[in-house]
Amino acid sequence: MKIKDVFGKDGEVVELKGWVYRHRTSKEVVFVVLRDSSGIIQCTFKKGVVPDEIFERAEDLSVESSVIVKGRVKKDERAPGGYEIVGEGLEVVHKAERFPIVRDKSKEFLRDVRHLWLRSREMTSVLKIRSTVFGAIHEFFRSRGFYEVQAPIFTTAGSEGGSTLFEVDYFGKKVYLTQSWQLYAEAMIFSLEKIYTVAPSFRAEKSKTSRHLTEFWHAEMEAAWMDFDELAKTAEGLIKHICDRVLEENMDDLKVLNVDPERLKLELPFRRITYEEVLRILKENGMEVPRGKDLGAKEETNIAKILGGKPILITHYPKEIMAFYKKRDPNNPKYALNFNLIVPDVGEVLDASEREPDINEIIKSLKADGADPKDYDFYLDTRRYGSVPHSGFGMGIDRVVQWICGLDSIQEAIPFPRTIKRVEP
Ligand code: 4AD
Ligand code: MG
Repeated sequence: MKIKDVFGKDGEVVELKGWVYRHRTSKEVVFVVLRDSSGIIQCTFKKGVVPDEIFERAEDLSVESSVIVKGRVKKDERAPGGYEIVGEGLEVVHKAERFPIVRDKSKEFLRDVRHLWLRSREMTSVLKIRSTVFGAIHEFFRSRGFYEVQAPIFTTAGSEGGSTLFEVDYFGKKVYLTQSWQLYAEAMIFSLEKIYTVAPSFRAEKSKTSRHLTEFWHAEMEAAWMDFDELAKTAEGLIKHICDRVLEENMDDLKVLNVDPERLKLELPFRRITYEEVLRILKENGMEVPRGKDLGAKEETNIAKILGGKPILITHYPKEIMAFYKKRDPNNPKYALNFNLIVPDVGEVLDASEREPDINEIIKSLKADGADPKDYDFYLDTRRYGSVPHSGFGMGIDRVVQWICGLDSIQEAIPFPRTIKRVEP
């Protein structure tokens, strides 16, 4: 039986497998808080009630020892959760050495021992929410007729600029870890039309920030015939579906993490605001951003806060600072037909655009970025043989989890974070 299923089963005898979460002894009673994947519950072993041998075994336990407890469920107002187990039997599966995590350890120490800190209630709840988020992404796309399809991790050309490419020696040839599936996705829509993937992406991020990993999980979609408006609906629909599923599945975990569930109740459509409007509003609030500069975390989180603390779409960034594949807005050619989806406290979680259809425009942008169009020849074929209007986006899943769980750093949103400073454990 799992611990969560014990509550309410007053009087029943149960057997639980788990780990010692807390351990306290007195002359007459040993208190063991038992932990499994589903929760925690207090077990008591009373001297004279259980055989001496069992009492001594309980006394001798250590934190994180693995055990099998047999006992009777008892309603008890004083016990955390309102129920406890009156211990009758105890089997020690493995007696743990002294566990290195004690109270008041620093964040960095807890990252050094992440393989052990994963057992904490906080991390367990984050990982459960993360599981819901991944499941919700698949549900969302599959229920809307998207095919799941995979792109390679080894690539020969970047899509997001050279500065964050990870080089790999590939039998003497220089290749890169993928930054995004996008260039391959744009080729695959000619076969499947509506596609998505969930995969790791890599960025050699030189900066240490609270929202950058060098290896992150990327949910990306690409669709033939899709225009800007439908793209925006798909993006905000996905974020809302994820939040709805977390509200259905993870109320207990939100409580463990002290997250107010109201924050995740979203209404469609999200507010849309252009890059130019953002600059104007920020200026009115004392934050001047030079026109033509990309928005950073500070600007993004500030504008989200000023506009009421809900997710928003910032649209129509200057075309010149956008990646080569983003389409120029025909009505306003200085700007791109793109948007970033911004959430409070984290900023950009999703980056979207209609794709530039004009092969010459793409070649011009690639050259301006210092790239060699020859390296993009397979990609340019997408604009040579039956090119169609199309759109797509990439969503940083770890950032979404960071936002939902209210975490200060993205490093706590993933089991084993990779950053410029950390590749272990
Ligand atoms: O904004 P980015 O760089 O856009 C692309 O890669 C497009 N090719 C996606 C597409 O249209 N298919 O990355 C997309 C998202 C960002 O909005 C952010 O949420 C996340 O990926 N992201 C990162 N997350 C964690 N650590 C990093 N270093 C990230 N870089 C991007
Ligand atoms: Mg971006």
